[in-house]
Amino acid sequence: RSPKPLAGKTIVMTSGPTHEPIDPVRYIANRSSGKQGHAIAAALARLGATVRLVSGPVTIPDPEDVAVIHVSTAREMRDAVEQLLPADAAIMVAAVADWRTANEAGEKIKKKPGEKVPALQMIENPDILAGVGHSKSRPRLVIGFAAETQDLLANAQRKLDKKGADWIVANDVSHATGVMGGDRNAVRIVTRSGVEEWPDMSKEEVAERLAAKIAAALQIVEV
Ligand code: C5P
Repeated sequence: RSPKPLAGKTIVMTSGPTHEPIDPVRYIANRSSGKQGHAIAAALARLGATVRLVSGPVTIPDPEDVAVIHVSTAREMRDAVEQLLPADAAIMVAAVADWRTANEAGEKIKKKPGEKVPALQMIENPDILAGVGHSKSRPRLVIGFAAETQDLLANAQRKLDKKGADWIVANDVSHATGVMGGDRNAVRIVTRSGVEEWPDMSKEEVAERLAAKIAAALQIVEV
């Protein structure tokens, strides 16, 4: 029996959304079920990789044979990812909230008749993928995702450089496509040497194919 292609390889992943608290009962979040990221984690584990997944709040179960760290905010996700480096590859699938509120209220913000609605002041969250892509302990293979509703390829190309990634897996999440929360996905793999367009398939199939492509990339011996 041939050994599994990713045996001995460590892969750090993120998946799911982050929740950024406004007050103890309210939060800001992105739409993300975690289905695609969790499916990739499971597919990599089936190929023998040691997968460490940092997951935001999701309702789906932890993927099989994957060590999962559950976090809530972008800052917690960043801290967990940093703790898990070095690794052979990093795959950042999470839909991280770009902004959080500047001042989280310690008590529930009350509706007061006759008063103005509260104005939220926002500040930028850390970019976890860019941090990993430019890290001193950067994995050999760094993969990001790009969920776009317009200018898919141009935005993905830009992201390669800005985030220090090797591949960007780009998908169109405009409402008509039903990707968000759904079970299917049509992706393009954007690398410095070009674009691979994959047909519409299940998120499971995307995960299988991506895991195989990652295994092939990590097997190329460095000289
Ligand atoms: O810039 P944008 O959010 O479109 O980039 C998406 C990619 O960057 C995804 O791989 C996502 O996981 C990652 N990301 C991140 N931290 C952020 C924002 C995005 O890791 N704060």
